[in-house]
Amino acid sequence: MQIALVGATGKIGRQIARTALDRGHAVTAIVRSDAALPAELDGARIVVAGLDDGQALAAAARGHDVLASAYGPAPGTPADSVATVAGTLIAAARAAGIRRLVAVGGAGSLEVAPGLQLVDTPDFPEAYKPYALAHREALKVFQAADDLDWTFYSPAAEIGPGEARGTFRTAARTLLADAQGHSRISYPDYAAAFVDEIERPQFVRQIATVAY
Ligand SMILES: NC(=O)c1ccc[n+]([C@@H]2O[C@H](COP(=O)([O-])OP(=O)(O)OC[C@H]3O[C@@H](n4cnc5c(N)ncnc54)[C@H](OP(=O)(O)O)[C@@H]3O)[C@@H](O)[C@H]2O)c1
Repeated sequence: MQIALVGATGKIGRQIARTALDRGHAVTAIVRSDAALPAELDGARIVVAGLDDGQALAAAARGHDVLASAYGPAPGTPADSVATVAGTLIAAARAAGIRRLVAVGGAGSLEVAPGLQLVDTPDFPEAYKPYALAHREALKVFQAADDLDWTFYSPAAEIGPGEARGTFRTAARTLLADAQGHSRISYPDYAAAFVDEIERPQFVRQIATVAY
């Protein structure tokens, strides 16, 4: 498949790029600077385009089967840029004639009980709250885009470096946790699930997640 990826230099994005490339997909990494690219992007086509330039983004995305995003606000950037970027991605996808949009989301918007999102629980860490609330706003932006086949793919509550187990669970809407109550996924397994979703859409116009 032809995959255009925003945020491809990030901790999650570079792993998505690597996984997709290793599976034989053509990946266009849309980066704001090509000065120092991670090794994971070897084999990707690199296009420099800023997220503040909708026309350039649409031009970079045109011709791809899917526009994917692992955007995250850089240090010093307001968390609510996540929702702004959601709107930018949607506009670019429409302008480029791409129906399929898959974005890394936030676990805070997953339900821990019917009608109760993780971010609204009393123990949710204060430090992550601005990002979780920003992702919730981004989710609303995607939910309003009913002309597109979007997926808001949230990691488990914890994501980080680790092994590629190749086995994990996925679900729509609800936080997944193991028998000990831990909601975790490694970067490589998250990326595997994300690329699975690109290849075989299961969660169109839904928030979904992956965890062990
Ligand atoms: N459990 C959870 O819910 C959970 C956990 C972790 C992360 N996340 C979410 O996952 C996403 C990715 O996280 P991450 O840890 O991979 O983030 P990261 O390492 O900080 O990567 C962020 C990516 O966004 C890009 N970016 C930032 N500002 C940009 C701009 N103005 N224009 C173009 N690109 C820009 C960065 O590019 P540069 O390299 O050019 O800066 C980088 O590729 C975030 O939205 C984060 O909130 C969720």
